[in-house]
Amino acid sequence: MANIIGSIYTSHVPAIGGAIAKGLQAAPYWKPFFDAFPPVRNWLADARPDVAVIVYNDHGLNFFLDKMPTFAVGAAPEYRNADEGWGIPQVAPFKGDEDLSWHLVESLVAAEFDIVTCQEMSVDHAFSLPMALLWPDQRWPVRVVPVCINTVLFPLPSATRCWKLGQAIGQAVRNWDSDDRVVVMGTGGLSHQLEGQRAGHINQPYDLRFLDSLRDDPSWVTRQSINDIVKEVGTQGIELLNWLVARAAMAGAAKEVHRTYHIPISNTAAAVLALEPLH
Ligand code: DHB
Ligand code: FE
Repeated sequence: MANIIGSIYTSHVPAIGGAIAKGLQAAPYWKPFFDAFPPVRNWLADARPDVAVIVYNDHGLNFFLDKMPTFAVGAAPEYRNADEGWGIPQVAPFKGDEDLSWHLVESLVAAEFDIVTCQEMSVDHAFSLPMALLWPDQRWPVRVVPVCINTVLFPLPSATRCWKLGQAIGQAVRNWDSDDRVVVMGTGGLSHQLEGQRAGHINQPYDLRFLDSLRDDPSWVTRQSINDIVKEVGTQGIELLNWLVARAAMAGAAKEVHRTYHIPISNTAAAVLALEPLH
């Protein structure tokens, strides 16, 4: 049976890709953000995952506003990054894990989640940048399974629904007939809003409470309505649903391996968190 060895959470601002391309990691603006990653990379080097299940939201590269699945799972042999118009270089293709993908797809449908199965799927900055932050040589040592959550277009799934999806993903991974070591990732957030009257909205107290909750009381956010969470964290801050799904997949008590919280990167409260199961 496969083993979930931990979970990693990070923001996914496109400007990070620009900073990587220009080698700005040590520049004063960027250093506090990039300094979060060496401890997480060290943990990964010890943890040696074979597969990464990456929970993120697509921003119009693979799904546009005309067709927006609430939940979608990749089942492709390979996933390519493509130009989204941010002007950031594309990264090397990612090798899929078709066996785990199909096991997840079958398990989730059996658990009554009406997911969209994607045998072809391009992956945007929300997928590629967290990978490039964790493996800066961009020689991906893990096979990947993308899981997409609609955090973009109302109506959004409730936090409770996302929690249940994450639980079902975790259960499926643990039932997968494999000795592989699986890391679960959640990308996006924390608080930010890119448009409208509240553009620039940041809510540090809520973000810090959410980070604590992932360690200590991970279903905390499920006690709030989706509109209340959007009010707290902004229309893009709701990407924290991706983190919630990943945390529910890594069930049980957690130990914090590393945490960084830094305001702002572009318009976003940028956070990095790594948790491992507390056995
Ligand atoms: C920004 C943040 C995001 O999550 C995103 O997908 C795009 C842009 C930003 O802060 O610039
Ligand atoms: Fe985003």
